[in-house]
Amino acid sequence: MNRIVIVTGGASGIGRALSAEMVRRGDTVIVADIDGEGAHRAALTMSGSGSARAAVLDVRDADAVLALVTSVYDEFGRLDVMVNNAGIGLGGFAEELSVDHWDSVIDVNIRGVVNGVVAAYPVMVRQGHGHIVNTASLAGLVPAPGLTPYAMTKHAVVGLSTSLRVEAAGYGVKVTAVCPGFTDTAILDTPVAPGLAPTSASGRGRELASKLPGGLYDADLLALDIVNGIDRNRRLVIAPRSARVASLANRLIPALVERQVRKGIGAMRGRPLKHSRQPLANRIVSARNCIRRTDTVGLTGERPDRLKGVRQWLELKMFWVDSRAAKAAPVGWI
Ligand SMILES: NC(=O)c1ccc[n+]([C@@H]2O[C@H](COP(=O)([O-])OP(=O)(O)OC[C@H]3O[C@@H](n4cnc5c(N)ncnc54)[C@H](O)[C@@H]3O)[C@@H](O)[C@H]2O)c1
Repeated sequence: MNRIVIVTGGASGIGRALSAEMVRRGDTVIVADIDGEGAHRAALTMSGSGSARAAVLDVRDADAVLALVTSVYDEFGRLDVMVNNAGIGLGGFAEELSVDHWDSVIDVNIRGVVNGVVAAYPVMVRQGHGHIVNTASLAGLVPAPGLTPYAMTKHAVVGLSTSLRVEAAGYGVKVTAVCPGFTDTAILDTPVAPGLAPTSASGRGRELASKLPGGLYDADLLALDIVNGIDRNRRLVIAPRSARVASLANRLIPALVERQVRKGIGAMRGRPLKHSRQPLANRIVSARNCIRRTDTVGLTGERPDRLKGVRQWLELKMFWVDSRAAKAAPVGWI
């Protein structure tokens, strides 16, 4: 392919797997990471028809990000792909988090991506092509209690990417947001950022994530999904399949997703929360809204064929709820 690519957070996990896959396909990849030695070691292991080199970079430092982008552009005369992937996790309940906890994730996960966009986008607009790839998360599409600050930053990255994508298209620049479910990387083992008080979830990331349905996804498989998503100019790359199902379910039946997520939270707290069931009337309204929503999605042309099954299931459920309500309600209530 021979694209000129910068991958932030390239020393480990998803960034490392993606850099390796791109080098294998012939791209020149600058593996940028706050962990300079780790980036160097990672770059040495990458082989293929492309090449890799390491750069030390703290994505929180806007000047440093701009300096890296400028030096790459000066050397190669172009920047084809900017992958804003560096990120940190933060698990814990909101009541145990200080402002410093919130700031730590905002600084890397939002400001780091903004710094990458501010540095790379004008270059791409000037050259009339380029692709910005921002690593968000499934937590940027669905509620993720116990990870609230993290989910907030990832929703921001999805919002940034989907909005910029529309704006950028007129300049020939593409934008993709990557939304993986839990993936087997070091982020799951990393406690809170240095200097911050541990939370009830510190050091339990892997244990909690591996309890979820679908388990952990493989970073190398995700790298293939991302490369295909870049080639096809996807708006969102959501992987694995269980993440796509969760995202679709959250759009169509958010109340059901919320109920499932509550169960997970109970397990995380070590005790199930009291389950407050919605009154029957609310559930009827909610099911009717779901059916309406499947219609709307169908009308916008997004795979109505696949939604047919979901719609039929909802209609069946509606019939069942209606008949139960008819039995329970006083005559003439419905
Ligand atoms: N692993 C998952 O389950 C998962 C799921 C969804 C999204 N993500 C996202 O994927 C991205 C990559 O995470 P990962 O799972 O590969 O984790 P990881 O910990 O293996 O890799 C993250 C890399 O980012 C680097 N980094 C951290 N702060 C940085 C900074 N300020 N400047 C530059 N580099 C910095 C780290 O040194 C590390 O090499 C993150 O944005 C993460 O939020 C991960």
